[in-house]
Order: sequence, then C-alpha cells, then structure tokens
Amino acid sequence: MKQLISTADLSRADVDDLMLLADSFAEVQSRDVPKVPALRGRTVVLAFFEDSTRTRTSFDLAARRLSADVLNFSVASSATKKGESLRDTVETINAMGIDAIVVRHRSSGTPIQISRWTDAAVINAGDGWHQHPTQALLDAYTLRNRLGGLDGANVAICGDINHSRVARSNVDVFTKMGAEVTLVGPQTLMPPDISDWPVTVSHDLDAIIGDVDVMYMLRIQTERLSAGLFPTVREYRSRWGLTVQRATALHPNAVIMHPGPMNRGVEIDPEVANDERCAVLDQVASGIPVRMAVLYQVLGPGRFTEERSADETNGEASPPPGNVGLENEHQPDHEKEAPIKEASCQY
Ligand code: NCD
Repeated sequence: MKQLISTADLSRADVDDLMLLADSFAEVQSRDVPKVPALRGRTVVLAFFEDSTRTRTSFDLAARRLSADVLNFSVASSATKKGESLRDTVETINAMGIDAIVVRHRSSGTPIQISRWTDAAVINAGDGWHQHPTQALLDAYTLRNRLGGLDGANVAICGDINHSRVARSNVDVFTKMGAEVTLVGPQTLMPPDISDWPVTVSHDLDAIIGDVDVMYMLRIQTERLSAGLFPTVREYRSRWGLTVQRATALHPNAVIMHPGPMNRGVEIDPEVANDERCAVLDQVASGIPVRMAVLYQVLGPGRFTEERSADETNGEASPPPGNVGLENEHQPDHEKEAPIKEASCQY
C-alpha cells in the first residue's frame, strides 16, 4: 500500500490486515511508553485545509507514537492566505523532503490531485463529499471489537447521506466486511442515483430501527447544503433523530455510532449520546491504532523493502519487519520502546 485515497483501493484482505495490525498497535498503546520506533526518521505532514478536531489530533498522535516527525501545516498562517495555489503549496512542502502528506480538503478529488504533484505518500483525511477512508476503517475496527465481526450484521446509516463522505466510505468498508447496510433519511438528503450502491434504502426510521445491530447517525452537513432540504430542525429530529424514545426500540445490544462532531438534540439526543450502547468514544479511541496501522502500511517496512532493495542493500536481504522496534539498542532497558509483535509486522 503506497497511499490511501479511497476505500476502493482496499480489498477485504487489506482491511483484515489493517485490523490485525491495529490490534498490535492497540497493545502498544496500553504500555507505559506507548511508542515504537517504526517510523523514526520519516516525516509526516498534516495538511488540513478544512476544520477538524478528531481526525487531525488522531493522525498527529498516531504518527508520533510511531516516532515519525510531524509537521502541522496550518492553512490559517500559510501563504495559501496570500493567494498561493494548492500546487505551489504542495510542491513547496514536497521540496523539503517529506514522506507522507495527510490531507483534508473541502473539495472532492484534492488528495488524488495532490498525489500527482508529490512523491510522498498521500493519505486522505476527508475530501468534500467523496471519501474518508480512515473513518470507515476505525468504525469497522470498533464494530469488529464490539460485535466480533461484521459478517451478516445489520447496519443502518441515518441522516444526510448525500453530503457525507463518511457514508460513502463506510458503506464500502462495511459491505466488504460482510455487513448488510440500510441507508435511512429523507429523499432530499439521499444521493440522486444510488442504484449501484450495495445497500437498501428506507425512508422510515421507525420501521427498521428494531432490526438493526448498528445504528450509525450522521450530522447534517450544513456547510455543504445549498438549499433548505428539510423544513425545520425540529421536524428533522422528530422523523430522523435518534431520540430517547426512539432509542428504546433499539435492541439492548445494538451499537450506536456517530463520527462526530455530534449536534446533540438534532440527529441524536444528549441522553442517547451518553447511553452505554453508544460507541462514540470507542470510535475516537480506535482512531489512533487504526491510523498507526495505515501510516505503518504506507511508510513502514513494506515500502522500505522495495526502496532498500533497489538503492541501499546492494542485493542483501532486507531486514525482517520484526526488527522495526529494535533500533534503540543504546538506551537503558527501561527506556527502550518494546517492539511491536513480529507476527503482526509482516505487511
Ligand atoms: C466527519 C467528517 O469530517 O467528515 N467527522 C470526522 O472526521 N470525525 C463527519 C462530519 O463532519 O460530520
């Protein structure tokens, strides 16, 4: 894996591999020193041209826990504000010798465009309505840990499907993992042509809520709405919101999810967001090991192996991936970062 632009780049086997790798990074997180030297010497740039709390901080921590150097590119204080083009900005960052760019942008297609201007690995952290692949992976990871797997699980995704990159990525990953997905919401917030999506569509949340294993709520993407597509917030909540009353119809073991940021009292009632079935904070926590797994796949030994066999090793075999955590041999024992499990470093 050299980059991650869309979930379409991932096969089911790729997703399974990432989940296993995330397990070993979750174990790293539980240590006193939650850090491994896997990406020491690599530089990751976080280029967020659109607001973010969770995704940005999670990528930042993930990269640091792999010992990469992290450069936070701030749009607000950059030459973008002086009218510099995206291409010039990317080529400037690229000239500094970086290894990966994690990009979020309000326009769909920006990450793929950026990948044409840089040799660095591009990771999509959300582009317009298009894709948010690491959100889908962390959601799948959360569900795999809660339900034991997604094969045959009934997942409903409710809300502003049309403007949601999360819906597009999640439908793809959830169905690849064997889930049955139902999209729920008003007709005005459904994509105009959904015929080739592997989903069922419903416009009646109450009719389906009792049968779902997972109730995934979405925010109304007001920043992407061009016209009034529903009458009032109050009416929206009464038909499409996960209200306290509606949540009583959910199975006691159902999982409630939301990618955040939540608009409490609109798509989800505050009490429901605090319900023990609600996995929102698990989703946030999953973000770190999952993004560590993605960064490691993109920048770790798999990539080194190809590069080294060409330029550095002079025909010698590349070091086994399990060596990745053993580079800090001059440190006292108690300061050493333990290696990640060898079995899970084979990618
Ligand atoms: C989502 C996003 O930005 O696409 N949030 C996130 O990354 N956690 C969903 C949203 O903004 O509603």
